[in-house]
Amino acid sequence: MEKIILDCDPGHDDAIAILLAAGSPAVELLAITTVAGNQTLEKVTRNALAVCTVAGIRVPVSRGADRPLVEPQRVAEDIHGDSGLDGPVLPQPAFEVDPRHAVDLIADTILAHEPGTVTLVATGPLTNVALAMRVHPEIIDRVKRVVVMGGAYTRGNATPAAEFNIAVDPEAAEDVFRGSWDVTMVGLDLTHQALATDELNERVRTIGGPVSRFVLDVWEFFGSTYHEVFGFAHPPIHDACCVAAVIDPAVFNTAKADVHVELRGTWTRGMTVVDFVDVPAMRHGTGSEYRVDVALQLDHGRFADLVVEAVAQLTSA
Ligand code: BDR
Ligand code: CA
Repeated sequence: MEKIILDCDPGHDDAIAILLAAGSPAVELLAITTVAGNQTLEKVTRNALAVCTVAGIRVPVSRGADRPLVEPQRVAEDIHGDSGLDGPVLPQPAFEVDPRHAVDLIADTILAHEPGTVTLVATGPLTNVALAMRVHPEIIDRVKRVVVMGGAYTRGNATPAAEFNIAVDPEAAEDVFRGSWDVTMVGLDLTHQALATDELNERVRTIGGPVSRFVLDVWEFFGSTYHEVFGFAHPPIHDACCVAAVIDPAVFNTAKADVHVELRGTWTRGMTVVDFVDVPAMRHGTGSEYRVDVALQLDHGRFADLVVEAVAQLTSA
């Protein structure tokens, strides 16, 4: 079983990432930590507890950073609504947050397990992860891998150049991409292939029950904002791709790259500058080493199967 800590800002696609991690028999979800991103820290934390309540998930959930390291805080209300998870009915949380700060819960959890066995999946701005690197540097060598939903090697969504999670906290993202650990970057180029298609909707509808209903309501609201704002026919389930890759590494292929985050550009701050090291025609030589596996092509059928299996598992549990 692959052990996961999920650092997130739920968020519609974060909610699906939580359900996938909790519902997959291949993964043990050890803890959930929250970070300000799609909405304020207070709102995304309440949403994380609500998602757990809907699906009967009981793992420690703790709050982390309420703002980025340098940037003023910004949220994605146009995409995720006033609550950060508009659409589904959110139940009163059935349990309380863990009193530890997210960086401490992350470190405690990693250090409580054998070295190289815990994967840190980050699906919000990277503030908590960067802070955990500073406060508990001993975790850097202990983590198996950091899987990040963020960035793009083509174009952004928060600005033409920058993807939202990186744009919100570029300094934190640069620290995480430059850390001496293995990172997988699951950027928009990959996640825009992970659409909640009509067929996937129908498969989840067929399962029935409250988790299935919740997922369909999540996709309905997310689909409407993605249609209005970006013109998408179906919503991309960005964050679930990171969890899917831990469950089944063949769900997408990757290429090795050296990744820097642009911190100074007038029009490009928060852009992930991706130098593919094994593609001579695309290698420009930023002068440093390969550290990051960048996701390229999704196997949508495999991805959809994992989501359906997780919803079915949570429904029968
Ligand atoms: C990312 O931004 C957030 O709005 C989503 O939850 C996802 O993590 C996509 O750019
Ligand atoms: Ca997210």
